Amino acid sequence: MRFTLVGAGAVGTLWGLSLANAGHQVHWITRQNETAVFRGYEADTAIAFPANQRELLADSDCVLVCVKAFHVQTALETLLPDLHPDTPVVLMHNGMGTAEKALKLLPHNPLLLATTSHGSLVVTETEVRHTGLGETHIGGINPSGKQCDFLKDVLEHALPPVSWHPEITSALWRKLAVNCMINPLTALEQCQNGDLLSPVYQAQLQTLSQEIASVMHAEGQEVSAKEVFAFSLAVASATAQNYSSMNRDVYFKRRSEIDYITGYLINRAESHGIATPANRALYLAIKERELSYDIT
Ligand code: PAF
Repeated sequence: MRFTLVGAGAVGTLWGLSLANAGHQVHWITRQNETAVFRGYEADTAIAFPANQRELLADSDCVLVCVKAFHVQTALETLLPDLHPDTPVVLMHNGMGTAEKALKLLPHNPLLLATTSHGSLVVTETEVRHTGLGETHIGGINPSGKQCDFLKDVLEHALPPVSWHPEITSALWRKLAVNCMINPLTALEQCQNGDLLSPVYQAQLQTLSQEIASVMHAEGQEVSAKEVFAFSLAVASATAQNYSSMNRDVYFKRRSEIDYITGYLINRAESHGIATPANRALYLAIKERELSYDIT
Protein backbone atom coordinates (compact mmCIF):
# COMPACT_ATOMS: atom_id res chain seq x y z
CA MET A 1 0.00 0.00 0.00
CA ARG A 2 1.01 3.65 -0.44
CA PHE A 3 1.17 5.37 2.95
CA THR A 4 1.64 9.04 3.73
CA LEU A 5 2.96 9.59 7.24
CA VAL A 6 2.32 13.04 8.68
CA GLY A 7 4.93 13.84 11.33
CA ALA A 8 8.40 12.33 11.52
CA GLY A 9 8.81 12.32 15.32
CA ALA A 10 9.24 9.23 17.51
CA VAL A 11 5.86 7.57 16.84
CA GLY A 12 5.60 8.60 13.17
CA THR A 13 9.09 7.32 12.45
CA LEU A 14 8.49 4.02 14.27
CA TRP A 15 5.39 3.42 12.15
CA GLY A 16 7.00 4.68 8.93
CA LEU A 17 9.99 2.36 9.34
CA SER A 18 7.77 -0.59 10.33
CA LEU A 19 5.49 -0.07 7.32
CA ALA A 20 8.47 0.29 4.95
CA ASN A 21 10.03 -2.91 6.37
CA ALA A 22 6.73 -4.68 5.74
CA GLY A 23 6.98 -3.74 2.04
CA HIS A 24 4.74 -0.66 1.88
CA GLN A 25 5.62 2.61 0.14
CA VAL A 26 6.15 5.39 2.67
CA HIS A 27 6.05 9.09 1.94
CA TRP A 28 6.32 11.76 4.63
CA ILE A 29 4.71 15.15 5.18
CA THR A 30 6.82 17.25 7.54
CA ARG A 31 6.76 20.81 8.77
CA GLN A 32 10.24 21.46 7.34
CA ASN A 33 9.04 20.93 3.74
CA GLU A 34 12.17 19.05 2.64
CA THR A 35 11.81 16.71 -0.38
CA ALA A 36 13.34 13.71 1.42
CA VAL A 37 13.71 12.55 5.01
CA PHE A 38 16.42 10.17 6.25
CA ARG A 39 15.34 7.71 8.91
CA GLY A 40 16.54 4.39 10.36
CA TYR A 41 16.82 2.36 13.56
CA GLU A 42 20.57 3.10 13.45
CA ALA A 43 22.17 6.29 12.10
CA ASP A 44 24.28 4.34 9.58
CA THR A 45 21.33 2.37 8.21
CA ALA A 46 19.07 5.42 7.71
CA ILE A 47 17.48 5.50 4.27
CA ALA A 48 15.94 8.33 2.24
CA PHE A 49 12.16 8.51 1.99
CA PRO A 50 10.31 10.93 -0.32
CA ALA A 51 8.72 13.84 1.53
CA ASN A 52 6.24 16.65 0.94
CA GLN A 53 5.32 15.60 -2.61
CA ARG A 54 1.75 16.62 -3.34
CA GLU A 55 1.21 13.93 -6.03
CA LEU A 56 2.30 11.19 -3.60
CA LEU A 57 -0.17 12.53 -1.05
CA ALA A 58 -2.95 12.57 -3.67
CA ASP A 59 -2.13 8.92 -4.62
CA SER A 60 -1.99 7.65 -1.01
CA ASP A 61 -4.07 4.63 0.00
CA CYS A 62 -3.92 5.71 3.66
CA VAL A 63 -2.71 8.76 5.59
CA LEU A 64 -1.38 8.19 9.10
CA VAL A 65 -1.23 11.41 11.12
CA CYS A 66 1.27 11.09 13.98
CA VAL A 67 1.60 14.68 15.18
CA LYS A 68 0.96 16.02 18.69
CA ALA A 69 -2.71 16.62 19.46
CA PHE A 70 -2.32 20.42 19.31
CA HIS A 71 -0.91 20.20 15.74
CA VAL A 72 -3.69 17.97 14.36
CA GLN A 73 -5.89 20.79 13.05
CA THR A 74 -3.03 22.53 11.18
CA ALA A 75 -1.78 19.19 9.84
CA LEU A 76 -5.22 18.31 8.44
CA GLU A 77 -5.59 21.79 6.90
CA THR A 78 -2.25 21.26 5.11
CA LEU A 79 -3.51 17.97 3.63
CA LEU A 80 -6.86 19.33 2.45
CA PRO A 81 -5.97 20.65 -1.05
CA ASP A 82 -4.52 17.31 -2.25
CA LEU A 83 -6.20 14.65 -0.14
CA HIS A 84 -8.54 12.36 -2.11
CA PRO A 85 -11.93 12.18 -0.33
CA ASP A 86 -11.85 8.36 -0.35
CA THR A 87 -8.47 8.09 1.40
CA PRO A 88 -8.73 6.84 4.98
CA VAL A 89 -7.10 9.18 7.51
CA VAL A 90 -5.89 7.74 10.82
CA LEU A 91 -5.07 10.07 13.74
CA MET A 92 -2.58 8.55 16.17
CA HIS A 93 -1.61 10.71 19.11
CA ASN A 94 -1.71 10.85 22.88
CA GLY A 95 -4.73 12.43 24.51
CA MET A 96 -8.32 13.08 23.44
CA GLY A 97 -10.30 15.98 22.04
CA THR A 98 -9.32 16.20 18.35
CA ALA A 99 -12.01 13.98 16.81
CA GLU A 100 -14.66 16.70 16.57
CA LYS A 101 -12.36 19.06 14.65
CA ALA A 102 -11.22 16.27 12.32
CA LEU A 103 -14.83 15.29 11.53
CA LYS A 104 -15.61 18.90 10.62
CA LEU A 105 -12.49 19.42 8.51
CA LEU A 106 -12.74 16.11 6.62
CA PRO A 107 -16.46 15.39 6.29
CA HIS A 108 -15.97 12.95 3.37
CA ASN A 109 -12.88 10.90 4.26
CA PRO A 110 -13.04 7.67 6.25
CA LEU A 111 -11.71 8.84 9.65
CA LEU A 112 -10.11 6.63 12.27
CA LEU A 113 -8.46 7.13 15.64
CA ALA A 114 -5.61 4.99 16.87
CA THR A 115 -3.59 4.81 20.02
CA THR A 116 -0.32 3.02 20.64
CA SER A 117 1.66 2.18 23.76
CA HIS A 118 4.88 1.24 21.92
CA GLY A 119 7.82 3.08 23.40
CA SER A 120 9.94 4.95 20.86
CA LEU A 121 12.71 7.45 21.28
CA VAL A 122 14.34 9.88 18.86
CA VAL A 123 18.06 9.27 19.40
CA THR A 124 19.41 11.59 16.70
CA GLU A 125 17.67 13.51 13.91
CA THR A 126 17.66 10.40 11.69
CA GLU A 127 17.57 7.62 14.27
CA VAL A 128 14.65 6.24 16.25
CA ARG A 129 14.82 3.46 18.80
CA HIS A 130 11.94 1.07 19.56
CA THR A 131 12.31 1.17 23.34
CA GLY A 132 9.30 -0.81 24.50
CA LEU A 133 6.92 -3.33 23.01
CA GLY A 134 3.37 -2.08 23.23
CA GLU A 135 0.09 -2.53 21.46
CA THR A 136 -2.01 -0.48 19.07
CA HIS A 137 -5.77 0.00 19.05
CA ILE A 138 -7.69 1.39 16.09
CA GLY A 139 -11.31 2.09 15.14
CA GLY A 140 -13.41 4.33 12.92
CA ILE A 141 -15.19 7.47 14.09
CA ASN A 142 -17.48 7.98 11.09
CA PRO A 143 -19.49 5.40 9.09
CA SER A 144 -16.88 5.02 6.32
CA GLY A 145 -14.04 4.87 8.89
CA LYS A 146 -15.86 2.07 10.70
CA GLN A 147 -15.68 0.04 7.46
CA CYS A 148 -11.87 0.24 7.30
CA ASP A 149 -11.22 -2.79 9.51
CA PHE A 150 -8.82 -4.11 6.80
CA LEU A 151 -6.32 -1.58 8.19
CA LYS A 152 -6.01 -3.68 11.34
CA ASP A 153 -4.35 -6.53 9.37
CA VAL A 154 -2.15 -4.16 7.38
CA LEU A 155 -0.89 -2.37 10.49
CA GLU A 156 -0.58 -5.58 12.50
CA HIS A 157 1.62 -7.13 9.81
CA ALA A 158 3.96 -4.11 10.16
CA LEU A 159 4.00 -3.60 13.94
CA PRO A 160 1.99 -6.12 16.00
CA PRO A 161 -0.21 -6.41 17.92
CA VAL A 162 -3.08 -4.27 16.61
CA SER A 163 -6.70 -4.60 17.77
CA TRP A 164 -9.75 -3.39 15.87
CA HIS A 165 -12.47 -1.66 17.94
CA PRO A 166 -16.00 -1.13 16.57
CA GLU A 167 -16.18 1.53 19.36
CA ILE A 168 -12.74 3.10 19.78
CA THR A 169 -13.67 5.44 22.68
CA SER A 170 -13.05 2.79 25.36
CA ALA A 171 -9.51 2.10 24.10
CA LEU A 172 -8.84 5.85 23.95
CA TRP A 173 -10.00 6.30 27.54
CA ARG A 174 -7.74 3.48 28.73
CA LYS A 175 -4.77 5.04 26.97
CA LEU A 176 -5.72 8.47 28.36
CA ALA A 177 -5.68 6.92 31.83
CA VAL A 178 -2.18 5.49 31.23
CA ASN A 179 -0.93 8.86 29.99
CA CYS A 180 -2.51 10.70 32.98
CA MET A 181 -0.73 8.25 35.31
CA ILE A 182 2.69 8.18 33.62
CA ASN A 183 3.32 11.37 31.67
CA PRO A 184 3.04 14.36 34.06
CA LEU A 185 4.79 12.56 36.90
CA THR A 186 7.73 11.34 34.78
CA ALA A 187 7.98 14.83 33.27
CA LEU A 188 8.07 16.63 36.64
CA GLU A 189 10.43 14.09 38.22
CA GLN A 190 12.50 13.85 35.01
CA CYS A 191 12.60 10.08 35.45
CA GLN A 192 12.12 7.03 33.23
CA ASN A 193 8.75 5.27 33.08
CA GLY A 194 10.11 2.32 35.07
CA ASP A 195 11.04 4.59 37.99
CA LEU A 196 7.32 4.93 38.76
CA LEU A 197 7.40 1.33 40.03
CA SER A 198 9.39 2.56 43.03
CA PRO A 199 7.51 2.54 46.40
CA VAL A 200 7.99 6.33 46.59
CA TYR A 201 5.26 6.93 43.97
CA GLN A 202 2.72 4.26 44.90
CA ALA A 203 0.45 6.36 47.15
CA GLN A 204 0.29 9.22 44.64
CA LEU A 205 -0.42 6.80 41.78
CA GLN A 206 -3.20 5.14 43.83
CA THR A 207 -4.88 8.53 44.34
CA LEU A 208 -4.52 9.43 40.67
CA SER A 209 -6.05 6.10 39.65
CA GLN A 210 -9.04 6.61 41.96
CA GLU A 211 -9.81 10.01 40.44
CA ILE A 212 -9.31 8.73 36.88
CA ALA A 213 -11.60 5.73 37.48
CA SER A 214 -14.39 8.00 38.83
CA VAL A 215 -14.25 10.21 35.73
CA MET A 216 -14.17 7.17 33.43
CA HIS A 217 -17.14 5.70 35.27
CA ALA A 218 -19.09 8.97 34.74
CA GLU A 219 -18.17 8.76 31.03
CA GLY A 220 -19.67 5.28 30.81
CA GLN A 221 -16.35 3.40 31.01
CA GLU A 222 -16.60 0.55 33.49
CA VAL A 223 -13.20 0.29 35.12
CA SER A 224 -12.03 0.15 38.74
CA ALA A 225 -9.25 2.24 40.29
CA LYS A 226 -7.39 -1.03 40.84
CA GLU A 227 -7.53 -1.82 37.13
CA VAL A 228 -6.38 1.70 36.14
CA PHE A 229 -3.47 1.33 38.56
CA ALA A 230 -2.59 -2.17 37.30
CA PHE A 231 -2.71 -1.54 33.55
CA SER A 232 -0.84 1.77 33.85
CA LEU A 233 1.95 0.21 35.90
CA ALA A 234 2.09 -2.66 33.39
CA VAL A 235 2.81 -0.07 30.65
CA ALA A 236 5.38 1.67 32.89
CA SER A 237 7.07 -1.70 33.36
CA ALA A 238 6.95 -2.65 29.63
CA THR A 239 8.46 0.74 28.72
CA ALA A 240 10.69 0.97 31.81
CA GLN A 241 13.72 2.37 29.97
CA ASN A 242 11.64 4.92 28.09
CA TYR A 243 11.35 8.60 28.81
CA SER A 244 7.68 9.46 28.29
CA SER A 245 6.79 11.94 25.56
CA MET A 246 5.94 14.58 28.19
CA ASN A 247 9.24 13.94 29.96
CA ARG A 248 11.00 14.74 26.66
CA ASP A 249 8.82 17.80 26.03
CA VAL A 250 9.67 19.28 29.42
CA TYR A 251 13.34 18.31 29.06
CA PHE A 252 13.59 20.02 25.67
CA LYS A 253 11.37 22.93 26.83
CA ARG A 254 8.69 22.16 24.22
CA ARG A 255 4.93 22.48 24.51
CA SER A 256 3.48 19.30 26.03
CA GLU A 257 0.17 17.52 25.39
CA ILE A 258 -1.03 18.17 28.95
CA ASP A 259 -4.19 19.99 27.75
CA TYR A 260 -5.25 16.90 25.77
CA ILE A 261 -4.28 14.41 28.51
CA THR A 262 -4.80 15.56 32.14
CA GLY A 263 -6.52 18.73 30.86
CA TYR A 264 -9.10 16.61 29.00
CA LEU A 265 -9.67 14.46 32.10
CA ILE A 266 -10.17 17.53 34.33
CA ASN A 267 -12.51 19.07 31.81
CA ARG A 268 -14.70 15.94 31.68
CA ALA A 269 -14.53 15.69 35.51
CA GLU A 270 -15.80 19.27 35.85
CA SER A 271 -18.73 18.58 33.55
CA HIS A 272 -19.74 15.72 35.90
CA GLY A 273 -19.04 17.71 39.09
CA ILE A 274 -16.18 15.36 40.10
CA ALA A 275 -13.21 16.73 42.05
CA THR A 276 -9.77 15.65 40.77
CA PRO A 277 -7.29 17.48 43.05
CA ALA A 278 -4.35 15.11 42.52
CA ASN A 279 -4.61 15.26 38.73
CA ARG A 280 -5.22 19.01 38.85
CA ALA A 281 -2.04 19.53 40.90
CA LEU A 282 -0.02 17.70 38.22
CA TYR A 283 -1.76 19.70 35.48
CA LEU A 284 -0.92 23.01 37.15
CA ALA A 285 2.67 21.97 37.83
CA ILE A 286 3.21 21.13 34.14
CA LYS A 287 1.54 24.39 33.08
CA GLU A 288 3.81 26.29 35.46
CA ARG A 289 6.85 24.52 34.02
CA GLU A 290 5.74 25.44 30.48
CA LEU A 291 5.33 29.08 31.51
CA SER A 292 8.92 29.14 32.76
CA TYR A 293 10.27 28.78 29.22
CA ASP A 294 9.32 30.04 25.76
CA ILE A 295 7.34 27.19 24.28
CA THR A 296 8.59 26.17 20.83
O1 PAF B 1 3.47 9.26 25.93
C1 PAF B 1 4.20 8.27 26.01
O2 PAF B 1 5.40 8.37 26.24
C2 PAF B 1 3.61 6.90 25.75
O3 PAF B 1 2.25 7.05 25.42
C3 PAF B 1 3.76 5.90 26.90
C4 PAF B 1 2.89 4.71 26.61
C5 PAF B 1 3.38 6.51 28.23
C6 PAF B 1 5.13 5.29 26.94
O4 PAF B 1 6.14 6.18 27.24
